[in-house]
Amino acid sequence: MKKLILATGNPGKVREMKQILAGLYDEVISMKEAGIAVDVVEDADSFLGNAAKKALAISQLVECDVVADDSGLCVDGLGGRPGVYSARYSAEGTDEANNAKLVQEVSQLGEEQRGAHYECAIVLARKGEVAFSCECRCDGQIILQARGSEGFGYDPYFLLPEYGKTFGEIEPAIKNQISHRAKALAELRQFAEQER
Ligand code: IMP
Repeated sequence: MKKLILATGNPGKVREMKQILAGLYDEVISMKEAGIAVDVVEDADSFLGNAAKKALAISQLVECDVVADDSGLCVDGLGGRPGVYSARYSAEGTDEANNAKLVQEVSQLGEEQRGAHYECAIVLARKGEVAFSCECRCDGQIILQARGSEGFGYDPYFLLPEYGKTFGEIEPAIKNQISHRAKALAELRQFAEQER
């Protein structure tokens, strides 16, 4: 029986990761479902550093594979911010307050500086060591009016020009094919399939 623990407490990510990794393991469960309540401080200066820190910390507590991701939004005209601080960009750290700060800052930028990308680093840890890692991105643009209620976090403000829709408007099944996390998890899938 092959079990995978997802080292994240974010329900939006757990939902997406379960959908994308379905069929690869006999059981895919969140840390919460596994009864693990460890709070790993995300103080690395890169997405990969934070993902590795989380995956390795949890992997030392369990026998099975552990996957952690660290992701965030990087805006061109903001020098890549919020970046690794995406989850706690505002003082409150809620989606609502983070989005309000994003809109306030991006409204000061010209159209040509509103390009942005989501980035996702994935680390698979096994027996306290990194077995696989990768980093992928998804390019778009920040808009100032929220559109749609799908997804989570900054999604209603993240426009994919080729679709003419935000991640808040795009069907979850499509997001799960084209997002930063989808691409990184596809690479993880490939790695796990090769191991079979
Ligand atoms: P993490 O849990 O430290 O990886 O924080 C990631 C943060 O980046 C989330 O709380 C969101 O604010 C943002 N983020 C990452 N991926 C997405 C996404 O797919 N949609 C919307 N926001 C995202």
